Amino acid sequence: MRIDTPAGSILCDPWVNPAYFASWFPFPDNSQLDWDHLGQVDYLYVSHLHRDHFDAEQLKRFVSKKATVLLPEYPTSELEDQLRDLGFTSFIATKTNEVVELDGGLNIMIQALTSPTDGPIGDSSLWVEYDGVRLLNQNDARPTDLEIFTKLGHVHAHMLQFSGAIWYPMVYELPQAAKTAFGKQKRDRQFDRTFRYIDDLKASYVFPIAGPPCFLDDELWQFNDIFGDEGNIFPDQQVFMEEYGKVGGSNAVVLLPGSVSELTAGGCETTHPVPDVAEFFANKEQHLREYQERKRPVIEAAKLTWRHPEIDVLKEMKARIEPLLEESIYMATGVGGPVRIDLVGYDGESVESIVVDFPGKQVRPYGDEKVRYRFRTERALVEHLLHIGEVDWVNSLFLSCRFSAARIGQYNEFVYSFFKCLSEERLQYTEGWYDEHQKNADKEDVKLGDWVVQRRCPHLKADLTRFGIVEGNQLTCQLHGWKFDLASGRCLTSVGHQIRAHRSAT
Ligand code: FES
Repeated sequence: MRIDTPAGSILCDPWVNPAYFASWFPFPDNSQLDWDHLGQVDYLYVSHLHRDHFDAEQLKRFVSKKATVLLPEYPTSELEDQLRDLGFTSFIATKTNEVVELDGGLNIMIQALTSPTDGPIGDSSLWVEYDGVRLLNQNDARPTDLEIFTKLGHVHAHMLQFSGAIWYPMVYELPQAAKTAFGKQKRDRQFDRTFRYIDDLKASYVFPIAGPPCFLDDELWQFNDIFGDEGNIFPDQQVFMEEYGKVGGSNAVVLLPGSVSELTAGGCETTHPVPDVAEFFANKEQHLREYQERKRPVIEAAKLTWRHPEIDVLKEMKARIEPLLEESIYMATGVGGPVRIDLVGYDGESVESIVVDFPGKQVRPYGDEKVRYRFRTERALVEHLLHIGEVDWVNSLFLSCRFSAARIGQYNEFVYSFFKCLSEERLQYTEGWYDEHQKNADKEDVKLGDWVVQRRCPHLKADLTRFGIVEGNQLTCQLHGWKFDLASGRCLTSVGHQIRAHRSAT
């Protein structure tokens, strides 16, 4: 998205090239826009380092290096370092939740979220004001509430994510019926959360953005929402319009690549590159097939770069991971068991099984034991991660959906937190975050239905007076859909994360 004002232009998250092992592509195809023109901007805002937001190739080739980067306040300098590597030299380091006055009467504010589960150690939203017109590019960030923005005055445009952006439940080795049921729950939850944010901000116009991606590799084609599968977690903008209409929403505007909205305090006029947007989505499969043909060579070329047979995966994983296991306290305890990774060889059949043993602080060959999680992926992908020294296997392998998974028991967020922290800097930050988070556990209680519960969600501190729904003995926090059994305090969604609750005396 590009925001143009008389006081300057801001380019936000220009993503064009495929991300995560060539699995995610933007839909609709935006590669044919006039990027030479779009890249000539005054300011650049990259919300976070996820590869469908931070597209190094696009930034390098098309975005003016004279642009000043509006930088979120993150705990590590990785985003700034990577932008400097691409040639950007001018930065405004914002402070989270503080308005910055730029030249010509343009005001901006960036809210950075910094828990280990917010993107790759951070995600952010951008608020912009010019001449009394305000917009919030919430993007795919999940703030606990939007109060900080509402306090700054009525917002005219609210851009936010509504679709899925994860591998769950598709990659799980589950019977199809279970997968569909879990997917449907997730799809419903995504919409509930989006509607809640919309209701919180009460902007004049709502723009469904930041997804869904599309999948053009034949191996991943089934993840596109074109088969009428109610368990597909990637509904598109048109589906959003229909669902939003069902809850009475009538102020949403769909943007295609090339659409232009003129936003004023009194209204919003939008022009599109096609005569009929609904018709465009009605022909989605055909658009996808044509897009797939155009991008086939890109995918094939990418695949050729992944193989590094000279790498001894076990030896390299030992060298990279064991020192981090040694230092990990919270995450290693949180995982609490061995995690098995099955690597399928180039022949598609031979399998090498490696175990990351969290309690034993070791990486070793699998020893026929019970494991908490099992992942199965192509050996070439892990070779590539080791070859490029990737520190974040979530922002590469897992988001690619090029794996399958099985687990015993509940979802365990610590597994994924650990695999996104394969560097000293990230590991130390995340361990510190968990430590602080535990010590500062919220002490305030509130009454919800027949229960007295802690005010802040044990997951990421959402205010349960806003996000908590109690049904019988079960509480659901709508921010990420986690469930808790109030009678026992047990989190039903993930290991750990006990909630404090008792039945109200009245
Ligand atoms: S904050 Fe994530 S489920 Fe409550």
